[in-house]
Amino acid sequence: MRLAVLLSGRGSNFAAVHDAIVHGDLDAEIVCVLANRANAAGIERARILGLPGHVVDHRAFASREGHEAEVLRILEEARPDFIALAGYMRLLSPAFIAAYPMRIVNIHPSLLPAFPGVDAQAQAIAYGVKISGCTVHFVDENLDAGPIIVQRAVPVSNDDDATSLSARILNEEHIAYVEALKKLSKSRYRIDGRRVVFS
Ligand code: GAR
Repeated sequence: MRLAVLLSGRGSNFAAVHDAIVHGDLDAEIVCVLANRANAAGIERARILGLPGHVVDHRAFASREGHEAEVLRILEEARPDFIALAGYMRLLSPAFIAAYPMRIVNIHPSLLPAFPGVDAQAQAIAYGVKISGCTVHFVDENLDAGPIIVQRAVPVSNDDDATSLSARILNEEHIAYVEALKKLSKSRYRIDGRRVVFS
């Protein structure tokens, strides 16, 4: 499995995926790590690891289309089988998604369809749910809405705040992302409406 990773910040999910590959838990090769911010810690980590890292700063482009065209050009050269969004805080246009139909996956820090969008963990605290978690899903043209591949749940306690809940969810994210990519690389599956059916 040739994997491209798109990120905007810390890159702990990218690191978890990379660790799984190094330890032989995931049969994949990271062929491209791309950030939209030069100061993303994840891109620095990619460089230290000797992986092909690219920065395409969205602020350097006049339009979203221009930025995406450059990202797509880099991806075309890298020829990924799947593109993993790992804290990539840019909305992808329908045209971008159409270039890789059901081959872009994302991780979101809630049990979707609950709490899509930004600050999902704070949304969960504010709503008062007793269980939250994370979701790895295919990306479609709607925000945080594509077919679900893997979910993992965590309890929410009375004294949690967004920070403590985020940390608990992040531990599960690292497991969930590897599990999802492993399933995509090893299993046969079909997408039946909203359902990802593994066989
Ligand atoms: C993760 O919690 C991920 O679920 C979230 O950003 C964080 C990135 O952390 N993504 C979203 O909220 C996307 N809607 P990381 O850079 O350490 O992997």
